[in-house]
Amino acid sequence: MNDVISILDLKFKPYISEDKISAMVKELARKIDEDYRDKESVPLFLCILNGSFMFCSDLLKQLKTPSQIEFVRLKSYMGTQSTENVQMLIDLNINVKNRDVILIEDIVDTGHTLSYFIEILRDMNPRSIKIASLIFKKEAFRKNFSIDYLGFEIENKFIVGYGLDYNELGRNLPAIFQLVD
Ligand code: IMP
Ligand code: MG
Repeated sequence: MNDVISILDLKFKPYISEDKISAMVKELARKIDEDYRDKESVPLFLCILNGSFMFCSDLLKQLKTPSQIEFVRLKSYMGTQSTENVQMLIDLNINVKNRDVILIEDIVDTGHTLSYFIEILRDMNPRSIKIASLIFKKEAFRKNFSIDYLGFEIENKFIVGYGLDYNELGRNLPAIFQLVD
């Protein structure tokens, strides 16, 4: 996993290794356990598909807190660009009223996707909404919500792997790769 790889017309170089990701996921799980272990009600983890599937799975395997997991599918990215047009491709059809919800994202880039979803969720009256994101592109961020459980803050360059795709390819890579320009 030390080599430059090609996906379609683009080349990517190794950026965050499997070991670093795994250590970070454990650390985030530990923090969530610390915050939720004394809560009386079971927290609801909402995995935001498709990008978050790997992070979500690894994070929940590390958690000791009893938890429920549900899935929504949002889409905003085209190729290597974020768009403001967010679509909900798989809807949330459970009752979140009075639940402690933790949104699980692979990456927060401009923030459009999550802020769109947070608005929808707020109208459903959960008790609390927290956000866990493995990656944050601070320079690209255009919103003002805070990320409660953040893994890596990275520079504003396109990445793939560990759930993240380039035109639907590269999601299965176990590590994260950065676009070579
Ligand atoms: P935002 O709406 O701009 O914050 O983008 C969020 C979504 O776009 C994420 O959930 C990802 O699925 C996708 N995304 C953002 N940055 C990247 C990237 O560098 N590579 C692949 N997908 C990305
Ligand atoms: Mg995503």
